[in-house]
Amino acid sequence: MRPKITIVGAGFVGSTAAHWIAAKELGDIVLVDIVEGVPQGKGLDLLESGPIEGFDIHIKGTNDYADTANSDVIVVTSGAPRKPGMSREDLIKVNANITRDCISKAAALSPNAVIIMVNNPLDTMAYLAKDVSGFPKNRVIGQAGVLDSARYRAFIAMEAGVSVEDIQAMLMGGHGDEMVPLPRFTTIGGIPVTEFIAADRLNAIVDRARKGGGEIVNLLKTGSAYYAPSSATVQMVEAVLRDKKRVLPCAAYLDGEYGLSDMYFGVPCILGAGGVEKVIELPLNDDEMAQVKKSADVVKSSIDALKTM
Ligand code: 2OP
Repeated sequence: MRPKITIVGAGFVGSTAAHWIAAKELGDIVLVDIVEGVPQGKGLDLLESGPIEGFDIHIKGTNDYADTANSDVIVVTSGAPRKPGMSREDLIKVNANITRDCISKAAALSPNAVIIMVNNPLDTMAYLAKDVSGFPKNRVIGQAGVLDSARYRAFIAMEAGVSVEDIQAMLMGGHGDEMVPLPRFTTIGGIPVTEFIAADRLNAIVDRARKGGGEIVNLLKTGSAYYAPSSATVQMVEAVLRDKKRVLPCAAYLDGEYGLSDMYFGVPCILGAGGVEKVIELPLNDDEMAQVKKSADVVKSSIDALKTM
């Protein structure tokens, strides 16, 4: 049996994720959305590129959750995107209602799936998805760290004038402007990044990475990023379906790790068939820990706000 991947939301992130998944032949895809015609049209259009690109998978666009039954992975992209001047937190109410609706429908039909949340505010929506689905913590994951560290790695490659392929980096924290890129855990070809980039330039890169989502929103003006977010999501889908045991920063449910509990937060994880198979606890110094606490306070208050809704 081929793996089955449901993507909820046929907007830019969802349909671009379908595109990357098809190109990698990770499995059959169900693209579901409430808007009539759009998932069907995008799904069929993508399917019709198969003979040219040579990918041999099935893609179905639908408005009916029954088509998603027995999925191995459910990716949730549906929700409102930011507009210039908005923070991700400004989306909490509208996206919480959407998340409740789609998780309750999709999770019931695919009780063994791994859920990957992509909508914002990311850590809070992952928390809500775990609550609504009733799934164990390892099978509900938030995508954010892969995207945020990809931006950070792209900026480092540009600054150092080296290949993006040689940049390894870890990043922690909530998916917001308080996220914590970790230069001490960043290398270029195994060499500490500080051998290539001076401290003031590195600080500027950290700052740009933190605000990377907003930079794209300000350029697009009518929506938010989708190529890198969907690519990051598909790297996680692949890690799960191929049981790759990738070490990636993901939003995971914390139960005491880093002194944090009852929340989702970006941490280094081992990602495989079981979803988050392990949260890795890095030996952070006082300054890094203080930054993590600052970011965690923001996520905590967002989850507290959710609980009052
Ligand atoms: C981003 O950072 C949309 O939150 C997403 O681009």
